[in-house]
Formats: sequence, C-alpha cells, structure tokens
Amino acid sequence: MKISVIGTGYVGLVSGVGFAKHGHEVTCVDIDEDIVQSINEAIPPIYEEGLEELLEKVIDSGRLKATTDLKEAVKKTDITFICVGTPSEEDGGIDTSAIESAAEDVSQALNEKTGYHVVVVKSTVTPGTTDRLVKPILESGGKKVGDDFGLGMNPEFLREGVALNDFLDPDRIVIGGWDEKSRKTIEDVYESFEAPKLVTDIRTAEMIKYTSNALLATKISFANEMSRICEEVGIDVYDVMDGVGLDHRIKRDFLNAGPGFGGSCFPKDVKAIKNLAQKMGIETKLLEAILSINDEQPIHTVELLEEELGNLKGKKVTVLGLTFKGGTDDIRETRALPIVKSLLEKGADVTGYDPKGMENFAELIDGINYAESIEEALIDAEACIIQNDWEEFSELEGEDFEVMKDKIVLDGRRVLDEGALDEDIKYLSIGKGQLD
Ligand code: UGA
Repeated sequence: MKISVIGTGYVGLVSGVGFAKHGHEVTCVDIDEDIVQSINEAIPPIYEEGLEELLEKVIDSGRLKATTDLKEAVKKTDITFICVGTPSEEDGGIDTSAIESAAEDVSQALNEKTGYHVVVVKSTVTPGTTDRLVKPILESGGKKVGDDFGLGMNPEFLREGVALNDFLDPDRIVIGGWDEKSRKTIEDVYESFEAPKLVTDIRTAEMIKYTSNALLATKISFANEMSRICEEVGIDVYDVMDGVGLDHRIKRDFLNAGPGFGGSCFPKDVKAIKNLAQKMGIETKLLEAILSINDEQPIHTVELLEEELGNLKGKKVTVLGLTFKGGTDDIRETRALPIVKSLLEKGADVTGYDPKGMENFAELIDGINYAESIEEALIDAEACIIQNDWEEFSELEGEDFEVMKDKIVLDGRRVLDEGALDEDIKYLSIGKGQLD
C-alpha cells in the first residue's frame, strides 16, 4: 500500500520505517527541512536501536522517502497516519495544536484528491478527540467521512529505546475505525504483522492507550508504595514482587520500585486522562495518588542517601544516569532532575554522568559538574546514586568503585549485582530494609 506518515518523531519515523520493511511504499512528512533531508540521506534524526540500519535499507530500496510537502504526500498515497506530538498543557490536558494543523492540511489535500483515502490518528489523544476535533477539521473542505474518506485511530505502544522492535513485533495492534471500510483499510496495512489485532471503534482505541499507560504507571507507583513498607519491615520489595509476579494474573513486569517513572508518556498521559475526567466531573483519587507517589520517590531517594551520609552539605555526590531510562538520550520528566535539585538544595556538590543524555540534561539545570566517563564521575565521590538502567552501569564491578572517597552506592534501579560487590562498598537501594 502507499502510506504517508505525518510527523517524524520517534513514533512517526519508527512506524514509517516499519511499514516500509513490511513492503509498503512510505512517504514521511515533516515541516522541518533539515529533518527531511537527514532522513533522505538515511541519517535518523533520533536515536533508536536498529533504526539507522533499517532506514538505510528502506531508503536504498526506494520504499521510503521524506518530504515537507504534506499535500502531495497525502494525494499520492492511500492512507495517512498522523503521528505528531500532543504535549501537556499547563493544566495537564493535551495540546492538540500540531494535530489540528496537520488535519487542516490533510483536509485541503483530500479536497484535491480523487478516490478513497483513510486518515488515521496515531498520536496519543484523549477519547473523543478524533471524532470531535479531528473529524470536523478534515470535513471542513467539504468532503464527508464515511462517504468520501475513512477515519481511524491506531494507538502506538512503543517503548523508547526498543521502539523498532516493539513496532515490528507488537503484543497487539489496536485498530479503531469510523466504519467498516476504514477499519478494513487499516487492517490491510497490518496484514503481514503476526500480532493479535483488536478491531474497535475510535474512542475505545483512544481509551485503550490511556488505560494501558495509566495501569503500567499504577503498577510502578504501587510497587513504590509497597517498597516504603518493605523498607520499614526490613525486607526487600524486589523479593516480594518476585513472589507476587508469579501469579499469571499479575505478572512481574513494571513492579520495580525505584525513583519513579519519567519519560514523555506516563506522566503526560496520566495527567491528561485525569484532566479529562475532572472536566467531566469525575473524581480521580487513584490517578492522583499515582502521580503524587511518583513525585515523592526522587525526594525519598535523596533522603535514603542522607540517612547513610548525614548532612549532604559540601558532600561530593555523583549521579549516574541522567535520562529517564537507559538506552535513550531523552531527559523528559527524568527523575534525575528532582534528585539533582534536591541534592543541590541540600548543599551537595553534584557530578552527573550519562552515556547519551548530558547535553540535554545541561539545558534543564545549572550548577552541576559533568564527567566524561563513569570513572571520572566516581573519582573522590562520597556517594553515588544510580538513577537509570544503562547497560554499562549494570556491568560495574567492585573495583570500579575503588576511586570513590567513600564507597556508598545507592542503586536506584537495581542494576548492580550486590553479591559480587566488595564488602567495603556500602550498597543501598530503594525498597530494601535491614532486618533488626
Ligand atoms: C511507555 C510504555 O511502556 C509504552 O508501551 C508506550 O507506548 C509509551 O510509554 C508511550 O506512551 O509512547 P516509555 O515511556 O518509552 O514507554 O518507557 P518505559 O520503558 O515504559 O518506562 C517508563 C518509566 O517507568 C521509566 O522512567 C522507567 O524507569 C520507569 N519504570 C519502569 C519503573 O520505575 N519501574 C518499572 O518497573 C518499569
């Protein structure tokens, strides 16, 4: 099929490249000429594992190209996926301006086009957005959904860092469609994908996305709340969750306590669905608790360090891991920020290190030092906090901490093998109490 994809952020580009791998002819659209040029030169503007290799393949084979000309792209294709960002607004609601502007351009293209076309929203939008907001804009040129064009909503479930793999080998594909013809066209796009497909109406598809992310965030905040109890009882929440997670109805995934969840999705999506509920007069006690537990965890992380180190004033503390998780340069909502802020407030002398996120992090906050390597970051440190789960942190061994002044290591993401560390290292972690 001929597919156009609007927006070349990590969702748009990964989807475009993934569709091309499945044999479709893809045109990626972006307003940024530099991004378009870079894609056409097979240089991905974002970092995602495996993306560069696959982009090169699909560019070389002629199955993917990029353009700034949205109208032409829509006119020459059978189906358009809108993959633009929907960032948070001040009140937690979503900013739909990018999606509205894309829909306006698509509407003009539809008017100039003969033949059937399907428009699919892939951006994360609150239930009702596609049919109440996007549909009228698409119809503003005179064409009518159902008669002249199709409409759908197809949420993405991609994790940053492994997005390509998640796209090519998904747990499920959710296809929300306005009518039978729209749904059938979207199903055709995914015909060669092995995953189970759930075909539904548009609002259900929109809600599946929010409910999935809110539930995953719930699991994390729940694990964090349980971790506080475990710390006091003198046991390890990870052992507890190993036992809990063996129940097939629960599963062990996303029950890892730590400094909390960050990223461009969980915080934004929980806030957005909470905001929608409140606008409709629905109380959201659970969603509020998820967010407030998540806000407390980074502060608690620093307090755990304080319990061991005492007053942090003038103490050299290293934070390993500045991005919201390993495998990405993304610092959006990273828990490293509240951790570093709290350390600075308490007078600590902070050094940060991250394999990919230092430049981005430096734009968020002043007043910390950066190191070129883990070793440099640890030299003379009086304590270190591991904030994310980069693989190179999990490879650290006892001797790597020898350069520290005081070997106090707070492993926020349980990446180290505690048993393999030398005895003179004081190993601390979140959710693990000491038996009295
Ligand atoms: C998340 C979802 O996992 C994807 O399914 C979804 O498509 C995506 O949001 C989205 O809406 O676009 P992502 O934000 O890339 O993906 O990252 P995750 O791997 O889910 O991690 C999110 C945060 O939760 C990270 O800060 C991570 O460290 C934290 N986390 C995760 C925990 O604190 N504990 C856990 O047990 C798991």
